[in-house]
Amino acid sequence: MLKLGVNIDHVATLRQARYRGREQGEPDPVRAARICEEAGAHGITCHLREDRRHIVDRDVFALRRTVRTRLNLEMANTPEIVAIALQVKPDIVCIVPERREEVTTEGGLDVVAQEPALTETRRRMNDAGIEVSLFIAPDPPQIEAAARVGAQFVELHTGRFAEAFGDPAQREEELNRLVEGARLAHRLGLRVNAGHGLNYENVRWLHRVPHLVELNIGHSIISRAVFTGLARAVRDMLDAMAGYTGGMPGAA
Ligand code: PXP
Repeated sequence: MLKLGVNIDHVATLRQARYRGREQGEPDPVRAARICEEAGAHGITCHLREDRRHIVDRDVFALRRTVRTRLNLEMANTPEIVAIALQVKPDIVCIVPERREEVTTEGGLDVVAQEPALTETRRRMNDAGIEVSLFIAPDPPQIEAAARVGAQFVELHTGRFAEAFGDPAQREEELNRLVEGARLAHRLGLRVNAGHGLNYENVRWLHRVPHLVELNIGHSIISRAVFTGLARAVRDMLDAMAGYTGGMPGAA
């Protein structure tokens, strides 16, 4: 079964728009996480950014105390955030680029350029019992580097696919890159997640991508929740993801 990790950053974005610098405010991302889990989400994802523009430190610690499924902390590979992650001990961290120089032309983490530093962080996280995922474009050199780093997961960046969605030829091209990327990652022993820019329409096309374990989806779910409520928005996304057969048409 394809799992859904709900990214709750944008709940915090809305809170910060009014309550930045205050000890509490609404809407509360911790309450959002509870509703997502009750609606069937398999995990909760949040990103503690260096500028704390949405999720702040107290959220991450509170989520660690309350999340009953799996807590995925997205983070840059910087000493400050690594130290916080080692204190929080999420189930998994997903290392993402935060500064321009860490980003490939396709928007994922440039693992090739940062292999030693990422290997060191991967080792420290694993030693603390935390799994490691790397957010990368479906680009063979990056996937191979992720395997050399020793990551347990890659999260394939679906942003280019999402942007190309309106153009059938480009959509095919980007989908094929995801299919080939997932195959290569699987062959190299990596488990495969995907995310960024996924919504209720384009997510159905990812049924063609093999070996997917989990999708991390935020913006479209939080946006729909404004009109339908969060539990319904999560259930609708689970419905759109249901029936995933690992990329094999017709397989049960
Ligand atoms: N995965 C990663 C690594 C991300 O950085 C993000 C965006 O924060 C997402 C998934 C979710 O993207 P979206 O909000 O577009 O669904």
